[in-house]
Amino acid sequence: MHKGLERKVEIKKDSLTNGWILYTLKNDAGMTVKFLNYGGIITEIITPDRNGVKENVVIGYENYTDYETNDNYFGALTGPVAGRIQGASFTFDGETYFLTANDGDNHLHGGPTGFHQVLWDGKTSETDDEVAVELSYHRPDGEGGYPGNVDVKVTYTLTNQNEFKIRYEATTDKATPLALTNHTYFNLSGNLKETVENHIVTLDSDQFVELDSHLIPTGKILDVEGTTFDFRNGRKISEGIQAPNEQNIIADNGYDHYFLFNHEREEQVVVKEETSGRVLTVRTDEKGMVMYSANMLDEGLKLLGGPSRRYLGLCLETQGSPASLHHEKFSSIILQPEENYKKETVFTFSTDLA
Ligand code: BGC
Repeated sequence: MHKGLERKVEIKKDSLTNGWILYTLKNDAGMTVKFLNYGGIITEIITPDRNGVKENVVIGYENYTDYETNDNYFGALTGPVAGRIQGASFTFDGETYFLTANDGDNHLHGGPTGFHQVLWDGKTSETDDEVAVELSYHRPDGEGGYPGNVDVKVTYTLTNQNEFKIRYEATTDKATPLALTNHTYFNLSGNLKETVENHIVTLDSDQFVELDSHLIPTGKILDVEGTTFDFRNGRKISEGIQAPNEQNIIADNGYDHYFLFNHEREEQVVVKEETSGRVLTVRTDEKGMVMYSANMLDEGLKLLGGPSRRYLGLCLETQGSPASLHHEKFSSIILQPEENYKKETVFTFSTDLA
């Protein structure tokens, strides 16, 4: 705690009518984060703009019960393997595993037994400078076709430095693929006033993964140089939406691609929105991230702030790449019984006056 200052960091737990729990974390710098024990779904993140006006900077439903299906994975803790698994199957150590195909012939975001639709146990904790909730879930061996009893712990922490940290930990009793992420759609304009087309993104990334027309990685890693995928010096999302680049067109005119991080900069991602002055930086130890510009977002859903429309949010899905299950040159996402899965992504909110 800052000496001499009144402590304002706080944590609240509300029971909703359908039995779910809504957690609210608040810090002393004007930030609030709300999330559910169902799917670990982040429903609201409230941050001040450059004039101190506090607004919501993520997509969330107006009615909680709409999260029951949540086809667009708003705010959700996604796994066991976030992203697409080609042919809904994978082979390792001589054995082939079959999963549910829920995206054409492919398996997306953990399928029907995905972590975005399970109830997590929550344990709150608090220090002078931060508030946290540890969410835990036991995935039984064979659930959804995945091998291994997996114990997953995901900790959401809000600090007085306006950092929202997500720490992922897991252990397993059988080798199993695991690539967890959070599927929040950020929109720094505040209360969904505009789409993210004018958001300016900077990435610590020289390379991205080529997709085929079903959004499945071809196995090729492409250089960003000279393309609309070159975010090294900042670029508006709208450039990829309008570009004649075949990779943008394949993704329904926009971005839905895995970028490999160089890990040469302190921050892997910086997002700026000039009207509000809000800035979001992301630091992570993950190898890369899927950046999805909501190209396929369902229209007309009832959200806090108005109806949904295309390009209304930007997902920054820091994670391992499921392409590794079918292509050797990607870093493995198989967790071994003797290993501890440990990853962290830190989202820091500030303004251009900070
Ligand atoms: C995927 C998109 C998908 C979206 C919502 C993203 O992570 O990459 O292709 O449409 O999630 O399901």
